[in-house]
Amino acid sequence: MMLRDVSSCNTYNYGDALYWDTRYVQEAGSFDWYQCYSALRPYVRHCVSTSSRVLMVGCGNAVMSEDMVKDGYEEIVNVDISTVAIDMMKRKYEDVPQMKYLQMDVRDMSFFPDESFDAVIDKGTLDSLMCGTNAPMCAAQMLGEVSRLLKNGGVYMLITYGDPRARMPHLNRSVFNWKIELYIIPRPGFQKPGDPPSNVKPCLEPIPLTEKGLLPEDYTMEDPDSHFIYICTKVDESVELSYKSTDPLTDDLLLESLSLGKD
Ligand SMILES: C[S@@+](CC[C@H](N)C(=O)[O-])C[C@H]1O[C@@H](n2cnc3c(N)ncnc32)[C@H](O)[C@@H]1O
Repeated sequence: MMLRDVSSCNTYNYGDALYWDTRYVQEAGSFDWYQCYSALRPYVRHCVSTSSRVLMVGCGNAVMSEDMVKDGYEEIVNVDISTVAIDMMKRKYEDVPQMKYLQMDVRDMSFFPDESFDAVIDKGTLDSLMCGTNAPMCAAQMLGEVSRLLKNGGVYMLITYGDPRARMPHLNRSVFNWKIELYIIPRPGFQKPGDPPSNVKPCLEPIPLTEKGLLPEDYTMEDPDSHFIYICTKVDESVELSYKSTDPLTDDLLLESLSLGKD
């Protein structure tokens, strides 16, 4: 069982505020991890209405929120653990009332009341925690907060490099009761051999998953370094979902790892 997603982590401590503060001092411009809004737009528009109250977790210095506001989104609250990034973004967008910036640790967002957002968008932030120390616990704390903050019917949109084997144990937990759909998009610039670059069209059909929430064994990705978009919809607790966490990160396991102080 793979709980700590070490496969794509390198030697940096992406879970550490100091790492990010130092990085944002050195790289003061803007940078969007993985994908830009233009590539994600079909998926965002598909599941988040422009009148939604949106929480952008771990916003960094990305222009994603700015692009969403230009596209009609009315309220985006951006949080990040890095004071450097938040101060920079506050200054940059002081005249844009649709966007707010707050320094906050996503593992404790008690500043916000329960069910205060229609959508939570995460591009690379769960991934950062998964690369830090005590990864499963940090991921569980963050996702617990995301679940608490979502209204019923609200969506958590996770854009990640993590495939279902690495991410589903954390997402597909009965405590959350999330209906999960998966989309896969190639990394920017990916070109099918022999095809012109613009030929990759967004597919708004979710990938059919196995009972355990994994990719079918015969599923092949055109781009092996694709990004994954998990759309997790918070379903009323009284509704039974067709598949539940059959494995891995059950509450018992989580408690066990807590009490043993394991990663
Ligand atoms: C990979 S970057 C992604 C930034 C941005 N979302 C993007 O798409 O470009 C991860 C971000 O998560 C932030 N982060 C890491 N741990 C965090 C935590 N515990 N609470 C809040 N933000 C965190 C980092 O400061 C960084 O800005």
